[in-house]
Amino acid sequence: MRVELLKLLREATDYVSGQELCEKFGVSRTAIWKDINQLKEAGYEIEAVQNKGYRMISAPDTLSENELLSIRNTKWAGCEIYYRDVIDSTNTLAKQLAEEGHPNGTLVVADKQEAGRGRRGRNWESEKGTTISMTLVLKPQVNPNRASVITLVSALAVTKAIEKVTGHEAGIKWPNDIVMDGKKVCGILTEMSAQFDYVNHIVVGIGINVHNESFPEEIADMATSLFLVTGKHFNRAELIEAILEAFEKYYEIYLQTEDLSGMLKEYNANLVNLNQKVRVLDPREPFEGTARGITAKGELIVETWESRKLVSSGEVSVRGIYGYV
Ligand code: BTN
Repeated sequence: MRVELLKLLREATDYVSGQELCEKFGVSRTAIWKDINQLKEAGYEIEAVQNKGYRMISAPDTLSENELLSIRNTKWAGCEIYYRDVIDSTNTLAKQLAEEGHPNGTLVVADKQEAGRGRRGRNWESEKGTTISMTLVLKPQVNPNRASVITLVSALAVTKAIEKVTGHEAGIKWPNDIVMDGKKVCGILTEMSAQFDYVNHIVVGIGINVHNESFPEEIADMATSLFLVTGKHFNRAELIEAILEAFEKYYEIYLQTEDLSGMLKEYNANLVNLNQKVRVLDPREPFEGTARGITAKGELIVETWESRKLVSSGEVSVRGIYGYV
C-alpha cells in the first residue's frame, strides 16, 4: 500500500480525502493515518487539513525502492528495483542479478558505493546522500559488436534527462562523459558479458555528482556537480526517473537499426568536442586534429592535416588541446 499511497499523493493535484484513501485501499482511517505518519517520519512533508484531506508538499531526497517505484512511469526500465544504502559497486550487483536471470530493465541504485569503478580501471567515489550511483541491466538480442554504441546511447539519454530536470545545458565529451560548464558531472561505465555472437547481458553504470559542494584538489579542475553548476539541489529519485524515461526512448530508437543513425543529429548537437581541436591518445601513435562528429557506429571523426580518421572508443581516449574538454 505504501507505494500506491505515495504515488497517489504525489500525482494528486488537490487534497485527497481520508475517505477516498480508505475506500481505495480497503482499510480503516486509522490505518491510513498510521501510514501517513510513517511517511512523515521518513521525511515526506504531508499537510493534513480537516474536511479536505491530505496533500503532499515535498518529498525527501531518498532513493528507497518505494520512492523510486512511486514515481515510476516507464514501460520496462526499472521493472525490478534493488536499492542499497551502501554497496561495493552497483555494476557488480547488477551483473550478479543479470546472471541469476533477472530481466532486461532491472535497476540497481545505491546511496553510497565503497568500491565504485570507473573506466580504465579507475575508482569512482560516491558519498552518502550526494551522488547518484545506478546501474541498468540490458539483455538486447543484438550482435555483440553492435552493442558497444549502447554506452553512447546512454550518454545521450542522461544528458537529455539532466537538461530536462535542471534546465541547464549539458554536453557529451565523446564517447560518454557528461560535462557542464566544461567539467565532468557524470561518468558511465558499460560492461558486457557475451558469447561469440550473442550478448548475455550488458550493465550500464551511471554515476552523477548531484549535491557535491566541492571536490578533492586533484580533480577539482575537472569535476563538477549539478549543485555547483546551478546553485540548486535536485531530487535524485526524480532525476533517476527522468533518466529511465529518456533511456527507454533512445534505446528503442537504437534497437530499430542497432546503431546510432536515428540519433546522430541529437548526439552531435550535444557533443562538446564538435569542431574542437582534440588530441587522440592512441597508444600506437598519438595525434591531433579537429573533431567533426560521430558515425552511426559511434566512432569519432577526426580531421587531421592529412586525412579523416575514425576513432573507436574502446581503443583510445580523447583530450581537448587546452584541457579536459
Ligand atoms: C567513468 O570513469 O567516467 C565511469 C564512472 C562510472 C561510475 C558509475 S557509478 C554507478 C556504477 N557503478 C560503478 O561501480 N561504476 C558505475
